[in-house]
Amino acid sequence: MLESSATGRTWLLTGPTSSYAVHLTEGDELLHLHWGPAIALADAEALAVRPLPDYWPFESPLDGREEYPVEGGPRFVRPALSVRTDERRGTEWRFEAYEADADELRLRFRDAGLVVTLHYRMRGDVVERWTTLENRGDDPLELLRADSATWTLPDREDWRLSQLHGRWAAESRLVRAPLTYGEKVIGSRRGHTGHQHLPWVALDTDATEERGEVYGCALGWSGSWRIAVAQLPDARVQITGGAGYDDSGLLRLAAGESFSTPVFAGLWSDAGFGGASRAWHAYQRAHVIPGADQDRPVLFNSWEATEFDISEEQQQNLARRAAAIGVELFVVDDGWFGTRTSDRAGLGDWTVNRDRFPGGLKPLADQVHALGMQFGIWVEPEMVNPDSDLYRAHPDWVQYQPGRKRTELRNQLVLNLAREDVQEYLWGQLDALLSSAPIDYVKWDFNRCFTDAGWPGDPYPQRLWVDHVHAFYALLDRLRAAHPDVAFESCSGGGGRIDLGVLGRTDQVWTSDNTDPLDRLAIQHGFSQIHPARVMAAWVTDSPNAMLNGRVSSLRFRFVSAMAGVLGVGGDLTRWTEEELAEAREWVELYKGIRPLVQRGDQYRLRAPQGDGLSAVQYVLGDETVVLAWLQAQRHGEPVPALRLRGLDPTASYECRETGEIHRGAVLLHHGLRVGLRGDMDATVIRLRRI
Ligand code: DGJ
Repeated sequence: MLESSATGRTWLLTGPTSSYAVHLTEGDELLHLHWGPAIALADAEALAVRPLPDYWPFESPLDGREEYPVEGGPRFVRPALSVRTDERRGTEWRFEAYEADADELRLRFRDAGLVVTLHYRMRGDVVERWTTLENRGDDPLELLRADSATWTLPDREDWRLSQLHGRWAAESRLVRAPLTYGEKVIGSRRGHTGHQHLPWVALDTDATEERGEVYGCALGWSGSWRIAVAQLPDARVQITGGAGYDDSGLLRLAAGESFSTPVFAGLWSDAGFGGASRAWHAYQRAHVIPGADQDRPVLFNSWEATEFDISEEQQQNLARRAAAIGVELFVVDDGWFGTRTSDRAGLGDWTVNRDRFPGGLKPLADQVHALGMQFGIWVEPEMVNPDSDLYRAHPDWVQYQPGRKRTELRNQLVLNLAREDVQEYLWGQLDALLSSAPIDYVKWDFNRCFTDAGWPGDPYPQRLWVDHVHAFYALLDRLRAAHPDVAFESCSGGGGRIDLGVLGRTDQVWTSDNTDPLDRLAIQHGFSQIHPARVMAAWVTDSPNAMLNGRVSSLRFRFVSAMAGVLGVGGDLTRWTEEELAEAREWVELYKGIRPLVQRGDQYRLRAPQGDGLSAVQYVLGDETVVLAWLQAQRHGEPVPALRLRGLDPTASYECRETGEIHRGAVLLHHGLRVGLRGDMDATVIRLRRI
């Protein structure tokens, strides 16, 4: 709901439990009033007449209070907007007009030829904010920085900052620490979202998992980005974020051109970290992820089983075994195209390797379908190996700086997707591929960062950083429109491209190349802070873990770990014993039974995977609930603590599907469920149904 004051200068957006209010001063400064529990318009108006502190001359009363601090004038904070013309730098705007729909507010400002529109849209309790910049003048403008939004927190003491940090094979690990004066900046200057941080932060003062206020912000952008959390000299806190890492130039807007920033979404919750996560999950399922009401199938992926050494017969063998254990989607990973027999050649040539697949992909796809599974394929369209027909024909199609060496990472270069000829080439190749065989699923990979992001001959090569992402999005959108039944997975060497932008056009993401089931618990715990299990792909692979650490784990532990997301299998099934295959079949069957709860239910993190003890998550959907619990190591014969469940009706009774035992809801909520785990690396699944 959107309300505006009689003066037309105070606006209030209200969702199911929260409100957001802003006020325009007589001097056309747009001030933040409120973000928190639902309030009335009269409350917002009362806030609007509170005088600003008298801070001059060494501090500015505007700092820490403006909705979108521009560069210039009496401001000393990091500007959200920094614009340069040939003559001057900075912005001095006048308010022009506002437009309002049911849940959306647009505030328009103008500075000479530059029109700045701030957008606000309520999606449940999530406020989506973004900014559009139009050059309606005659001369070009350079956008040095154009953040999506700046968020302002209420005056409180002792803010804490939560973030998700990582690196390859160790993504999305939660860190929580006190915020201090100055700025904390996270982001990516790598051209993709990056493994190093998910573009999300949360701030609280004293929240617990199930109680207390939590403010969260998440950016929908799959290129370089920056989120800066500032605690100002008067302790006020602002968070500003958007595309691009530095202030060194984002885009040049010629006369008539415009730029729309990505969405920077914000959420206030007073239901603790768990409640905030559930609200983020519900928002993404309702407004971001395509077709989120459809459950994702159990997949098999061939990568860890075969790496580059693949053939049609071997894939058929794997497919038969995968089908026999209940897999629903069979995905052929890297190595099926061009001369791709290692990571040294072939990227860019998206035609089938006829030595490996003599009849093309169709015979395998048909066989996979005949086995009752969908068929999927791996691609990495934005890249090229120098040893490829594509590169030999078009060496100038890659990002490079004139006269400088072209840095190879994993023996590959990045294509310059800002070029229209490259965009058309990729569209033609991928459209032909999807038309050549009955392909249901595409795993879209991105295996290196930008290093030489230049574009010889272009008057403003800096735009390549932004244009690459838009071209990537446009290609995905075009492919989805032309092949509406094909699902897409976002992968970037594991979890290097996970954000609200890519999630708006993909069906699931590859969480991490780390498939060790124990490491995964921490990665999944972090992932769940912002994203739902519905998109979090997790595979059961071989033991000992061959990719990373040689850790030995039971099939039980591996399955229960992977069942907390979109279950997949990625082991070499040709080497699994009959007993292992039979056990796997049972786990897959069990997963299919709990899948609606995991993928569409409310998730409660019962115990975080800290230390070496017990951790658990619970999912609730309607009358059913399921608990997944893991015990890393039992010490000194200590009994494993009971798990206090969440989201149940205290007055109801629940039957355990595993044991037939009847539990009282109040007992489960207040005294807990005993999970019967013991020893090292034990795990269990417990299903309960309300009776
Ligand atoms: C990186 C991905 O994360 C892996 O799953 C696999 O697809 C390889 N790339 C293939 O090169």
